[in-house]
Amino acid sequence: MTIDAYAQFAAVQAPIATSATLPPACYHDPDLARLERDAVFSSSWIGIGRHDQWKSPGEYSALNIAGIPLIVLRDRTGQLRVFSNTCRHRGSELLEGTGKVKTISCPFHCWTYTLDGRLMGAPHMPKDGSFDKSRYGLFEFRAAEREGFAFICLNGETEGIDAWLGDFAALHAPWSLPDLVLTRRVELEAECNWKAFLEVFNEYYHLPFVHPDSIDSIYAPPDGHDTVTGRYASQFGATEGSGGLLESAQEHILPPIPGLTGRAARGTRYTWLFPNMTFAASTEAVWVYEATPLEANRCRVVQSVCFPKSTVAQEDFERRADVYYQRMDAALAEDLPALERQQRGQESPFAVAGRYCLDLEPNVAHFGQWYAQRMKGALEQGQTATGSFRKAAAL
Ligand code: FES
Ligand SMILES: [Fe+2]
Repeated sequence: MTIDAYAQFAAVQAPIATSATLPPACYHDPDLARLERDAVFSSSWIGIGRHDQWKSPGEYSALNIAGIPLIVLRDRTGQLRVFSNTCRHRGSELLEGTGKVKTISCPFHCWTYTLDGRLMGAPHMPKDGSFDKSRYGLFEFRAAEREGFAFICLNGETEGIDAWLGDFAALHAPWSLPDLVLTRRVELEAECNWKAFLEVFNEYYHLPFVHPDSIDSIYAPPDGHDTVTGRYASQFGATEGSGGLLESAQEHILPPIPGLTGRAARGTRYTWLFPNMTFAASTEAVWVYEATPLEANRCRVVQSVCFPKSTVAQEDFERRADVYYQRMDAALAEDLPALERQQRGQESPFAVAGRYCLDLEPNVAHFGQWYAQRMKGALEQGQTATGSFRKAAAL
């Protein structure tokens, strides 16, 4: 598997105009999915949604990123933190779902941790000095909040969040991302590889074929892709009306994002922040998807929709926003069967890498090159899951 995959990753790294698509095995092979956990998810900044999911001290979410259980929480000082959700006694998961806690208490034998990860209580453990509680705190990783979104990184050697984002804030400044309000957050499971989900959201190519009667006519041929400095790819395209509404519902348009002017006010910017978060910055709203693997051929998807404060303050906002949610649900309902067909096709022994259409799927091509570089590098180093864990634990 790996030697073949290595050669195929090299083909993706050709000059972008002639770059091959990713090897089909990347979409279903469990060995490559395990490699991804190290080469991609354990060593990148991972987007985990709007930062105000954790408002007051003790609010937490238990996450699973590519098979790694984690706790994200806001501590007593207001700092966002991320810990391994694995007890230091005998490894139980500590927290589930979302909620609010004063301390983190293990349901198995009640080892209890403070909100900054220190072990504070361990019933019946010796008090004669032979058990040093300070050596059994939770493993902690980096968390950051930028542009109204939260990010985590499991590897201390990865560059900082600001280097990762590069000029992301400047390119998205017209949409005032930090000032938006999260109005909808929904989760779903998709029967496809996580990359395929993010790919379809980032390309114009499928619009006339998958969305012929719902949204296709809204989108004009897009601009060329932007040259950026961060770990992301972005492409703007003009729209005829709002990209946030169905063709049949354009009369329900809400006010534009305050301050949007010029060409930005007449289209949608699609951005893929590597590896797992993607944005549609539209005229009235910004909607975001995060995708992470459940299995090689199945993923968890979270959709967040954000509107400006002034729009949310309107009296009939919820009814009017619903028309936008209907557009997102309708497009998803058309994309998901296409993704399931793609997944089945990719799993054939006769599936081979293809070619990108650079005009219509440049974000996908750029992600492919970034991903291939990561995966090829990991194959060169013979990186293993154990190696990655040691690196993380050493933080
Ligand atoms: S596994 Fe957590 S206290 Fe025993
Ligand atoms: Fe689509």
